[in-house]
Formats: sequence, structure tokens, C-alpha cells
Amino acid sequence: MIKVLVATDKPFAPVAVEGIRKTIEGAGYELKLLEKYISQSDFVKAVEDVDAVIIRSDKATKEVIEAGKKLKIIVRAGAGYDNIDLAAATARKVVAMNTPGQNSNAVAELAMGMMVYMARNLFNGSSGTELKGKKIGIHAFGNVGQLVGQLAKGFGMDVYACDPFIPSDQIEKHGVKALNSPEELYAKCQYISLHIPANEKTKKSINYELLSKMPRGATLVNTARKEVIDEEGLMKIFAERSDFKYISDIEPDCKNDLVTGYAGRFFFTPKKMGAQTAEANINAGIAAARQIVDFFEKGDTTFKVN
Ligand code: 3PG
Repeated sequence: MIKVLVATDKPFAPVAVEGIRKTIEGAGYELKLLEKYISQSDFVKAVEDVDAVIIRSDKATKEVIEAGKKLKIIVRAGAGYDNIDLAAATARKVVAMNTPGQNSNAVAELAMGMMVYMARNLFNGSSGTELKGKKIGIHAFGNVGQLVGQLAKGFGMDVYACDPFIPSDQIEKHGVKALNSPEELYAKCQYISLHIPANEKTKKSINYELLSKMPRGATLVNTARKEVIDEEGLMKIFAERSDFKYISDIEPDCKNDLVTGYAGRFFFTPKKMGAQTAEANINAGIAAARQIVDFFEKGDTTFKVN
């Protein structure tokens, strides 16, 4: 019998787990659940006897992949798959997939909420500012970026976007102004919402040079990945500009330096919570389970990323 492991350090909502169970067991497979595990070795051990794995931000390292002697497929229930060692998966002929778009709305809503939170001075009761009429730059116009664009228009913001992989005319079909480079985007917008993936090209690409272009009253919103930020550059901006604010869904390594020097100008969620809604968990979790069933039953590899 095909065995599917759901390994989630940050568990899905119970209703999503039920949906995953129905999909897996409905196909005649067995579900194995590993939630809130203490150490990576628990994951390594749990993968030993399974054919498929569903993860979130859990690290599918070379060690995990090699421990999965029967493993044929890993599905990242979510968008970013920088947590899968793709080379190791490919070497072992393990198919890696993501579930693009399934949790995007949750992340986009959080990005907007974060902007309001910073504009209203972390809800401390003092007089803040409004989003209406401000310029927002959407850095990468994929599933989440497009939804942020829609929501930002609802707030009355002036919306710009830049994406190296999407032609300007496609971006502009969404009623958003396309800019040719991140440099132009950062120079134009008080708010920047990051939606780039973490990869060799993007790591540390949000650097001092780029951030220093932002106009006065700048707020950087990061619901993407901490690795894309050049934290040395970020600290330099904080030291130079008292108007600069940063809010992120991922705690940076420089958190303590910010806490000691710049209270009130930054905020970090305690655990990445962009996709932490029942709806997003249901969408991404069940999509992952279906993709596994379709892979085994029909050989479907539509969302393969390796
Ligand atoms: C994603 O890449 O889909 C998001 O970062 C969500 O990650 P999570 O499932 O770990 O919350």
C-alpha cells in the first residue's frame, strides 16, 4: 500500500488535515502524520518507509531524501520550494512539486494587514498615516503579487510592479503600472511588497543600494523570504534614515540589533504566518494530496519543479 507522510513542523489546520486524509485514504493509500516534530532527525526517521511526502517550510534535505528509500515524490504544499534539495531529489529520481497559487490569497491579505499595521504605528494609538494615495511597488508579479495589486487598488493606492519574467503589457492588463527595473520601482514607491523567490540570483539582492532609493516614509514589507534581504544593508538604512520601516513575516538574523536600536520601526511575526489560514491550509494541503494521487494513478507531473 502507498504510504504518504505529512511532515509539518507548523501543522495545517485540523480541517485541512481531515481533507488531506480523505483524499489519501479515499485513494486507498495510508496517511502518516508527523506534526510539530522536535528535531530534523524525527523527519529523517519518519520518511524511511513512505512513498510520498507532503511538507510546508519543512526542510527536505539531502539526508531526508536519501533516508526515503521508497520515496518517489515530495510535494511542498505552498509556493516556495527553496526548502527542497532539488539536486538530491533529482539524483534519487524523486519528483518534487509545489502547489502554486493555493495559499496566495492568505499571503496577500497579510501583506496588506502589515502595511496598515506599520502605517498606524504598530497600533500604539498615536496618529499614523493612510495607505490611500500612496505608491506601492510590487516586486515580482506572480500569484501573490497580483492579488496584492488588486487589494492595494481597493485601498486607493497607486500600484506599480516589476517582474523580470512577465512582460509589461501582461502586468498592465491588471490595471497596474509596469516598471522596467527594481531600481525604478524602489525609487518611485513608499511601500515595497516583496514577492520574489529565494534562489541564487535573488539572495541578498534587496540591498543598501536599492533600499536607499526609496522615497521618504519608506516601508518594506517582506512576506517572501529572509534570505533575499542583505541584512547589513538593511541595518545601514535603519541607521541612516529615521523614516525607514520594515515589517516581515520572517524573523531576520539581525533581529536583536533592530530591537536594541530601532523599536517602533519594525515588526516580525513570531512564526511565518502568511499561509496560516484554514482556507490556505485546505487549498494547499488538499492540492498536494491530489497531486500525489494523480502522480501515482496517472503519472501526472504537472507541477514538477525538478
Ligand atoms: C509558501 O512558500 O507557500 C509560503 O511561504 C508559506 O509557507 P508555509 O507553508 O511554511 O507557511
